[in-house]
This record gives sequence, C-alpha cells and structure tokens, in this order.
Amino acid sequence: MEIKKICCIGAGYVGGPTMSVIAQQCPHIQVTVVDLNQERIAAWNDSNLENLPIYEPGLSDVVKEARGRNLFFSTEIEKAIHEADTIFISVNTPTKTYGKGKGLAADLKWIELCARQIAKVSTTDKIIVEKSTLPVRTASTIKDILKHTGNGVNFQILSNPEFLAEGTAVQDLLKPDRVLIGGDQSEKGKEAIQALVEVYERWIPRERVLTTNLWSSELSKLTANAFLAQRVSSINSLSELCERTEADISEVSRAIGTDSRIGPKFLKASVGFGGSCFQKDILNLVYICRTYGLTEVAEYWEQVIKINDHQKRRFATQIITNLYNTVNAKKITFLGWAFKKDTNDTRESAAIYVADHLLFEKAKLSVYDPKVTEQQMLADLDYLNTRSAQENQELVTVEQDPYEACEDSHAIAVLTEWDEFKDYDWQRIYDKMLKPAHIFDGRNILDKEQLEKIGFKVFSIGS
Ligand code: UDX
Ligand code: ADP
Repeated sequence: MEIKKICCIGAGYVGGPTMSVIAQQCPHIQVTVVDLNQERIAAWNDSNLENLPIYEPGLSDVVKEARGRNLFFSTEIEKAIHEADTIFISVNTPTKTYGKGKGLAADLKWIELCARQIAKVSTTDKIIVEKSTLPVRTASTIKDILKHTGNGVNFQILSNPEFLAEGTAVQDLLKPDRVLIGGDQSEKGKEAIQALVEVYERWIPRERVLTTNLWSSELSKLTANAFLAQRVSSINSLSELCERTEADISEVSRAIGTDSRIGPKFLKASVGFGGSCFQKDILNLVYICRTYGLTEVAEYWEQVIKINDHQKRRFATQIITNLYNTVNAKKITFLGWAFKKDTNDTRESAAIYVADHLLFEKAKLSVYDPKVTEQQMLADLDYLNTRSAQENQELVTVEQDPYEACEDSHAIAVLTEWDEFKDYDWQRIYDKMLKPAHIFDGRNILDKEQLEKIGFKVFSIGS
C-alpha cells in the first residue's frame, strides 16, 4: 500500500513540526493536522507566520512552503480521520494527577478518546501511528478498542516515536540520527511498516530507518529519554561535589566527554533538566517496572528524578544562602523561563520550581524571557497550586525588556541558556542593580571572569 492521505491528531510541539516537515518533503501526500483546540488551529492558519503557536527556528519557512499546498490545519477531526489512510496520534499524555498510578503513570485518557473516535468514523482500512510517547504496550490498548468498537475495518498499529528535541525540531526532523518504526510482525503488519518506511525514505537514507516489533519501539523511546536524562543527572550530581572541592564541573565534563565511549553530549551541568519528556518518561518507566514487580530497576531510574529535584532545590537554596539567608521582599531577576533555549515551551521548566522555592521565602520576582508570555508564566505557577493566582500576580512581574527587569534587583538568576544573554551590556545591568550585585548562573553560559571584573558576585553550577 502507499500512504496518500495523512491525518495527525494533535497540533502541538510534536504533531505540528513533524507534519510540517513530512508535508514539505512529500508534496504528493496530503497532510491534515487536527486539534480540539480552535485557538491553536487558528494560530497555525494565521497568515502572519510570526503567530504560529509554537516557536521553533526554521519552522515558519517549512510551514510557508507547504501550507495550503498539501498541509492543512483543521478542527474538523472526524472528517479528516474519515478521509485519511494513515492517522498519527500526537496528543498529550501527561502524568496522571489522580487515582491509580497518580504521579507516575501516563494518563491515556486522550489516547483512548482518539482510538474511540477513529473506530467510530472509519469506513476504510487505516494505519494508526503512535507518535506521542506512550508506555510500553499502549498499542495493545489501542488495538483492543479498535477491534471491539470498529465496524469490520482493518487497522494496523505502528509505533513511530518522536526523537526531535525542541529548539532544534526542524533540523532533527530533516536529518534524524534514526527513525524508528515498530509494528506487528505479521504479513499485514510488515506491509504497514513498509508503507511508512517509504514516506521517510523520501528524505532520509534507508539505513537510518530502523524497524522493530511494536514493544521494542515503544520501550526504546522511554529508554532513550531515560539515558539522556540520566547523563544530565549524573553530571549534576557531581556538580555538587565540585562545589565542595576544587574541581570544576566544566573541566570534568570536557575530560570525560573526550572518551569516545562516553562522548561529549548531554554533559552540561545545569539547574536541572525540564521539558515535557524526560521526567514523564522516566516516571512512566518506573511505573511499568513496579507493575512487573521490578523494585530495584524502578528505584534505579527513580534516582534520576530525585537528583534533578535536588538540583533545582539546591539552586534556590544557594540563592537564599548567599543573599544573607533571606530573600524576603528582595527583588530577584530571572533571565529565562523556558525549559531550554530556542523554544517557548515551559513544561517542567526548572524556572517554575526555583521560582516556587523563592516565593515561599517571600521573594519578589521579575522575569524576562524572549519567547514566553506573561500569561504562560503565571499559568505555570498557578498550576503548582501552592499559592493563589492573585498572590502569584502580586509577587511576580514580567518584563519585556531585560534591563528593566534588572532595575533595583538584588540578584539575577539565569534559568535558560538563551544566546542573547551573553551579549548584554553587563556593565549597564550592574549599574542598575542594588549592591552587592549577585548573579547565579544556572546554565554556566556567562563569562564569570568578565562579570567579576565589573564587580558582580558570580555563582555558577559546579565550580
Ligand atoms: C528530549 C529528547 O532529547 C528528545 O529526543 C525527545 O524526543 C524529547 O525529549 P527535549 O526535552 O525537547 O528533548 O530537549 P533536550 O534537548 O533533550 O533537553 C532536555 C532538558 O535537559 C532541558 O531542560 C535541557 O536544558 C537539559 N539539559 C540537556 C541539560 O541540563 N544539560 C545537558 O547537557 C543537556
Ligand atoms: P506534544 O508536546 O506531545 O505535542 P502538546 O500538548 O503540545 O503535546 O500537543 C498535544 C495536542 O493534542 C494539544 O494541542 C491538544 O489540544 C491535542 N489533543 C488532545 N486530545 C485530543 C483529541 N482527542 N483530539 C484532538 N486533539 C487533541
């Protein structure tokens, strides 16, 4: 079979960029991205490409080329499902906040809803592709629903996990290290795998497209994220030891990263990892291990999260300790709120948790981020449910100008590694601040020596 019409359910950080690139690279395939969220779809359709709902370098050019040609964004979900031969499921699978598996398991409510909707409206055979990160064996849930509620239509389920990192999504999609496609090992299953291989083959060398059984593919996604997060927690755990000794974590990272068996990536000490995947996927892994009674394995991976929480808390404590053990009514400036540079995504961003710790100590925060809106920042804090929305609004000011944000501030905390921070006029910032002026560089991106020469007291991670 040949894939000709794709419907993608979910126009978020995964579905949006992935479908844009598929449409750009495969002009013969009609790609329709649908979402329940009308505002989001309207933003994807906005004639001003500056207004796309997510910020990703290079994305607007891709959308500009394909949108209206073979790439469409719509809220007509049932129509798009009905017409498509292949359906990608890219809806969110957040960690459960209630009931069994609360705080660990992925909430599959939205996935199940999608499956039921697909079953309801399908009248022709379809390939269903799991794109969202899902716990191992989710495909069997989807299969079961489709089998028992569908009307005799043949569905093939594939797992095609996304490995793109936000901020570099377009490049990652254009030149991925690999594409992974898992499917049933039956004849029909293999045909479906082959159909999807042919889509990716349009722009990705065949040897980079790996095919496996369904469960290996689902588990590989969780494992890849767990390994990456583990590297960050490993280096972060040692950053604390470096702060007590004369070792410097950047030097240690460089020294170990040159070992070709270890490699240089994901060894940057930081205030802690964030993002929609790492924590959620590890919690998921932990939950699955527990379900199978694998206590030691569960505890092993859980430690990666514990170190990450510890690192965020430690960073906040360092600010409080160095500001003479009190931040009460002191203005502290946050540079950055996104969980990493080049994205407007703030899910699980370390900034949220560091802010929360400081707000408990009655600090006043002034935040500047080049891409995150005030509304988003306040929503992130409100979501924690640790104080009222009104209190958050009173204690947190969001500035559009970084220099304004630093006016009369006691300390600056760098929470995101945005490149522009390195180019600021730091003398001008110093002149605006209360003295002694402190900088807590949670990303180790600033030139410590230069800042110290100006007069700042500088604290970086792991030195
Ligand atoms: C991750 C995976 O990289 C990607 O393959 C998967 O599809 C989704 O999850 P993402 O969360 O977008 O991607 O960003 P990533 O670049 O992995 O960074 C995650 C977090 O780790 C960020 O907060 C980042 O700042 C932090 N990090 C990363 C470090 O603190 N140090 C590092 O050395 C690398
Ligand atoms: P991700 O990072 O995985 O892409 P997002 O939260 O950015 O996650 O995007 C998921 C999108 O899926 C959201 O825009 C949400 O509105 C959409 N969505 C969730 N459930 C459904 C559904 N049943 N039908 C259509 N869209 C859905």
